[in-house]
Amino acid sequence: MQELLTRSTPSTVRATMPAKGSYGMVSYLILATMCFAAASASPRGRRADMTLHEYITSVPAGFVDSGPAKPDTILDLRIALVQNNQDGLIEAFHNVSTPGHPSFGQYLSLEEVAEFTAPAPDTVSAVNIWLEAAGLSASPTTFAGDWLRLNTTVSTANKLLDTTFSIFTDTKTGQQSIRTLNYSIPSDLVGHIEFVHPTIFFSSTGSAKSNSTIVARAPNRNGFPWNGCNEDLVTPTCVQRLHGVPATVPHPAGSIGVSGIGDQYANDEDLESFMRYYRPDIPRPDVFLEVSVNGGKNDQDITQAGEEADLDMQYTMGIAVGVPTTFYSIGRANPDVVAFEALLNYFQQNPNKNLPSVLLTAYSARESQFPTALSRRICTGYADLGARGVSVIFSTGDGGVAGPELPGVERCPEGKFVPVFPASCPYVTSVGATAIQSVPEHVGTFIQDAAAISGGGFSNQFTNSAEFSWQSSAVDSYLRNLPRLHPTYAGKYNPFGRAYPDVSTVGSEIAMDYRGRAQTADGTSASAAIFASIIAMINAERLAQNKPTLGFLNRFLYANPNAFQDITRGSNPGCNTAGFSATTGWDPVTGLGTPIYNRLSAAGLAWPAPLHNA
Ligand SMILES: *[C@@H]1O[C@H](CO)[C@@H](O)[C@H](O)[C@H]1NC(C)=O
Ligand SMILES: *[C@@H]1O[C@H](CO)[C@@H](O)[C@H](O)[C@H]1NC(C)=O
Ligand SMILES: *[C@@H]1O[C@H](CO)[C@@H](O)[C@H](O)[C@H]1NC(C)=O
Ligand SMILES: *[C@@H]1O[C@H](CO)[C@@H](O)[C@H](O)[C@H]1NC(C)=O
Repeated sequence: MQELLTRSTPSTVRATMPAKGSYGMVSYLILATMCFAAASASPRGRRADMTLHEYITSVPAGFVDSGPAKPDTILDLRIALVQNNQDGLIEAFHNVSTPGHPSFGQYLSLEEVAEFTAPAPDTVSAVNIWLEAAGLSASPTTFAGDWLRLNTTVSTANKLLDTTFSIFTDTKTGQQSIRTLNYSIPSDLVGHIEFVHPTIFFSSTGSAKSNSTIVARAPNRNGFPWNGCNEDLVTPTCVQRLHGVPATVPHPAGSIGVSGIGDQYANDEDLESFMRYYRPDIPRPDVFLEVSVNGGKNDQDITQAGEEADLDMQYTMGIAVGVPTTFYSIGRANPDVVAFEALLNYFQQNPNKNLPSVLLTAYSARESQFPTALSRRICTGYADLGARGVSVIFSTGDGGVAGPELPGVERCPEGKFVPVFPASCPYVTSVGATAIQSVPEHVGTFIQDAAAISGGGFSNQFTNSAEFSWQSSAVDSYLRNLPRLHPTYAGKYNPFGRAYPDVSTVGSEIAMDYRGRAQTADGTSASAAIFASIIAMINAERLAQNKPTLGFLNRFLYANPNAFQDITRGSNPGCNTAGFSATTGWDPVTGLGTPIYNRLSAAGLAWPAPLHNA
């Protein structure tokens, strides 16, 4: 093991930098070789010159320290480099999604985004000199080169980061991962390295599945009319009736991407039997495409079907019929990879033609599990997708104000509400759930209430209101009312945080096929899938008129509150409270309310022009 070396002045290296816009792998490798030569020229000890970079003060709840990791264990380290112009990316994101801006709808290419997200040349050289000096070489995992990946041993990593990697055991699953409570980087790399992973982030799968409460109702379909629409059964026909969604897409165009995390497989047979029964108007479903990320599979053995994956596919392909749909199976080939980041890395390697125009991810995790540098980097990745024209849609989780349940972890630390991520990221659209009740004296009429499971609240990590100005007037009205509605909630939520959900759709007693059986499921997952379908259908209408896809949605949604049915009853209980109440206008249970398709599509076709008399 070589001594760690100080970075030499990279003036000779700078001359070898690839021309702007050329950040490919080949130039990178050439650069690495040059850096090594430069570094060897001036060796100097650096251990004293380290700066503590990230730390947590104790082992996270749900994990125990099982002792130091073996020195020769291989670690697959990822280094997030500081991007040369992240502010520029965010500005470009705002420009292309702001009505009236000359760049509105002129989405950026992979290469154009990389102009902002690529690390500065001196960042690349400084970090490579440091790694080469330790005998390591890294390769970029994105086109822009802002993420590096390298294999090293625990003993080398311990020296490199002035830390002691240990084995931590998940007390519920027994799964072990190698992590640390703190690490340092050379002082002169502060400002070049954003963070190193895996270090202080303690969730090996990177997310928790939304609580789609699957309630098997019948061994066969006897009790399930194909067009059922009541408090016990919501079919695709019912979704069409409730939200006014057309049965078909006259000119299918654009595309939907569906994320599958944690060995969730989308089963063809379940999708086909679902379509045959609930969509007799559609002769047979289209085939969906599959993309494997981090070794993801899509096993078609019906006993391996995933509830979440089946639900997500059935309520995208079963609603936005004919819109090309891709299932992204994010595997665990490397169990340390953060699933959300792995999918972003895939998109950050691929040109826009490989991007879906709507991306559905019906998974959520507690925001507090994520170190802020990691959640911000992931969130910025969604701004990158938005700048490229993708509508990024997340479910808000099914735990009400208490957020996702984490085995072995206190539900509401200090009695505070638990925000969920990525729903709390300002650059995504977050979808909550409603439930219906039929009105017996008016057959075919329904009351829609907030579903009690509907995740909703305020972020603790995303608090810069300039990043979510599109929601401020809607949210401020609720905040003004909040002390009167809920006099005891002060301190349980952060009134300065990004508020969610943005919108909602029905998400209770949703009919689905799973492992060859008919059943119903509850969850904001279904709501997010339904909303993704509605946006995909409006995109198809826009594309038929040669208009760009809607891209980032939130400015459009908050500018058109009349396109939503306001939900004013119900709440999302949790943490020994009734949760937030649904009320007139936006609320942190149902957002703006549920879409009224013909109004939302009229507004969508007129966007960005101001719409009168909506
Ligand atoms: C965003 O728009 C402003 C105003 O038109 C312009 O000055 C700026 O250069 C644009 N920024 C980017 C990154 O495109
Ligand atoms: C790290 O090692 C794995 C397994 O040997 C290999 O598949 C991978 O390509 C290596 N990664 C790098 C960046 O060298
Ligand atoms: C880093 O973590 C170790 C335990 O692994 C602890 O002993 C040490 O005090 C921590 N250092 C800092 C600066 O937090
Ligand atoms: C999931 O739903 C079940 C049944 O409604 C409920 O008991 C459980 O608390 C829910 N879990 C979460 C995380 O909300």
